[in-house]
Amino acid sequence: MLELLLLQSFWFIASAYASNGFPPLMRGRMPIDGGKKFRGRRLLGDGKTWEGLIGGIVFGVFIGSLQIFGQDYLPPELLLPKMTFPMVFLLTLGTMAGDIGGSFVKRRMRMKRGDRALFLDQLGFLLAAFLFVWPIYKPQLDIMIVLVLLTPIIHWLSNVLGYWIHVKRNPW
Ligand code: CTP
Ligand code: MG
Repeated sequence: MLELLLLQSFWFIASAYASNGFPPLMRGRMPIDGGKKFRGRRLLGDGKTWEGLIGGIVFGVFIGSLQIFGQDYLPPELLLPKMTFPMVFLLTLGTMAGDIGGSFVKRRMRMKRGDRALFLDQLGFLLAAFLFVWPIYKPQLDIMIVLVLLTPIIHWLSNVLGYWIHVKRNPW
């Protein structure tokens, strides 16, 4: 059943989405790279801040905690993946690592802060989140496929929204 699969997929990835979407709201000012350069270019750039990183982790873990405490009250026939703190933690850390790694790659490709990088912007954080939880939890293949297909669309929609409400500088 498709609607169950969609529900299970978003349930599994909710904390990663939460931590990926939150950093722009922090309006951070302290670059993680401290302004340092690598071969003449910024290591990460001003778009990756400590405030964003910490806010993303805290918000991701917060959403994951709501899931963990709430899951026993949801109908068992939904067959939602059972979330645990280590899973939520790794999904969140993987998301932020993927995002930061993506910026590192973008700067090496001579792209400015906020320049769009197809696939890297939309899927980098997702694949890193999968990779980080993998040692303790292997998501069902159909869930991973759904997420790889739908995340770029959702990412794009949420960035357009973020741009409209003046939280994001670019609509991507
Ligand atoms: N942000 C932040 N700290 C992070 C991640 C994001 O402060 N660790 C904020 C920044 O204000 C950033 C915005 O969220 O500009 C949007 O994030 P993202 O699109 O990931 O960054 P970009 O500005 O596109 O920068 P880059 O080109 O390095 O990806
Ligand atoms: Mg961006």
